[in-house]
Amino acid sequence: MKLGKFMTDSEETEFRRITHTFFEKEWRESFDIFYQVTVNGEKKFIKFAEFDPRDYSRLDAILKEKQTEIFYIKETDLYKYYQFNILKHLLLGLVQDKPPAREVFQRVYPVATRILQDYLEIPASDDFLVLLDELPKVLAKSLDSGSLPFHELFALTLKENTIHAHCVNVGLYCLCLARELGMNRKDREEICRGGMLADIGKKYIPKDVMFKESELTDEDMQTIRLHTAFGKKKLNEQRRYSKTVLRMAGEHHENFDGTGYPLKLSGNDINTAARICKIMDIFNALTSHRSYGEVLTPIQALTLMKEKIGEQFDSQLLTAFIQYAGRQ
Ligand SMILES: [Fe+2]
Repeated sequence: MKLGKFMTDSEETEFRRITHTFFEKEWRESFDIFYQVTVNGEKKFIKFAEFDPRDYSRLDAILKEKQTEIFYIKETDLYKYYQFNILKHLLLGLVQDKPPAREVFQRVYPVATRILQDYLEIPASDDFLVLLDELPKVLAKSLDSGSLPFHELFALTLKENTIHAHCVNVGLYCLCLARELGMNRKDREEICRGGMLADIGKKYIPKDVMFKESELTDEDMQTIRLHTAFGKKKLNEQRRYSKTVLRMAGEHHENFDGTGYPLKLSGNDINTAARICKIMDIFNALTSHRSYGEVLTPIQALTLMKEKIGEQFDSQLLTAFIQYAGRQ
């Protein structure tokens, strides 16, 4: 999503819209704030404030008076914006408030989706994945004292047809099923991280294929299927991720009966976390708005998936998910 350009002497800069959240806290990091104007039908970005205590007071006063003002920063400042403002604000708030799991999920969700959206849309953003590191940790920890009921989990996930929402939804579903299966906090964290990152290889699929509105050809399908290998490779290059995370990216489209891709692995040869990811990937797709097919309710989706038990899905894991989803 390109929002517009601001021309300075010789550089051309991309801008991203930001939220006001960070203005509530100390504004320590240096980045300039812009607002958008339209001159002769052309969008331009004008510098509104820069890192300066006097500008901060000015911003504060304006926001108190005019809550609807929309601000932008340069794409190149986004990492700092997340690291020193959004994430700091989120993580400090969680430590101070110690909210229940549902609220932890609610606070983390918009931050995780926005970071992933920017990662997927901005070409030079590979370091953005580091920004997600703490989020699976706090989510996994929030389930120490009990599981999150499925209807609460389902209610907080967006059903829009975007890759970033899909990634975060899959991560949260994986995490909650892992809690049901009695996995420890560290394993829950890893499966949540792996679920959120399993589809990041889609960033490297040509956009005209990835977002094609008309029917996909066999060649298009082959191209899209490469996202598993691309994702695993990109994550591996970061040298920070566990085997579980890498295998979830590489194996989440394998089928239990060996008819999936890319390696046609079957049964227990497919990593357990990847088998869980497969279930959540299909479940989220069926219950979200898509360019094809209707949006199914959880019951409709699980009924349909049950028909594929033992073929696409591990029967024990799908049964456990159905039991979790059906419990009041
Ligand atoms: Fe995928």
